[in-house]
Amino acid sequence: MQTIEQTAEMRAWSEQARAAGQRIGFVPTMGYLHEGHISLVREARRRTDRCVVSIFVNPLQFGANEDLSRYPRDLDRDRTMLEEVGADTLYLPSASAMYPAGFQTQVEVTDVTTGLCGRSRPTHFRGVTTVLAKLFNTLRPHATFFGEKDFQQLVTVRRMVKDLDFDIDVVGMPIVREDDGVAMSSRNKYLSSEERTAARCLSRSLAAAKEAVAGGERDGRRVQGLVEGIIRKQPLAEIDYVELVDVESLRVVTRIEQPALLALAARFGATRLIDNAVLEPAGGCDVPKHAA
Ligand code: PAJ
Repeated sequence: MQTIEQTAEMRAWSEQARAAGQRIGFVPTMGYLHEGHISLVREARRRTDRCVVSIFVNPLQFGANEDLSRYPRDLDRDRTMLEEVGADTLYLPSASAMYPAGFQTQVEVTDVTTGLCGRSRPTHFRGVTTVLAKLFNTLRPHATFFGEKDFQQLVTVRRMVKDLDFDIDVVGMPIVREDDGVAMSSRNKYLSSEERTAARCLSRSLAAAKEAVAGGERDGRRVQGLVEGIIRKQPLAEIDYVELVDVESLRVVTRIEQPALLALAARFGATRLIDNAVLEPAGGCDVPKHAA
């Protein structure tokens, strides 16, 4: 696997691949890779001819009191995992090349970034879309791959790609979980063993919500209450938000008549974890009421 650090070299690589008629698949990451990231690389390999993975811990998307300086890193391990899964190229830009002195342009997607994580992380998504716009311009991928784990990020990226006319197919992939149901995340490393065990309450609460909706529950507040109740029973968990929203607009919904996203964030000590599930009302919702 080839490693590229310079923007100009990355651009040349992309131009060459395009000239050879190859489709480029791009998986942006912040490193400290796990099976969630690798599932994206596998899909990129399946769908495209050349797969580039970037590792860049993007300072612009971290708030002042967040974990930028202690964000976990292990480049050797990341490299081994990427070699094993067959990534073609690793792109490792430096922060000074990405944001040289005088840098002052940011890309902001508005409505879909204001709720959910945007409420407690008001500058986060602007940082994400800015770095991705830069990466997309350099790499010019045909397709890019994102996890539904960060559902709001996926919706935001789709919006930016559409609004700014990037000619890129944005592919969303399911959440990869540990055996006990906890969503894989680079930040799980921060958890003490008690907190790690406690974190199971998140996926358990989502499973209970899914079950309730499959069993006919349509009242959004009741489902939200059910989820909050399960998490509150866990003394090490502190809820940031539990919200039920439309899967595209991310606007709050109160009735579950079509697929709705139940998204949540909670703190375990200093570590903030997110998780979500799409709640699908069983059958019926695509049958117009008057047709019965
Ligand atoms: P990072 O947190 O490293 O995640 C990179 C990609 O892996 C994202 O698309 C994320 O949704 C996906 N991912 C993480 N955990 C996952 C899991 N358990 N299952 C499936 N996919 C998972 O997200 C970022 O980096 C950054 O914001 C980035 C897009 C790279 C911009 O800086």
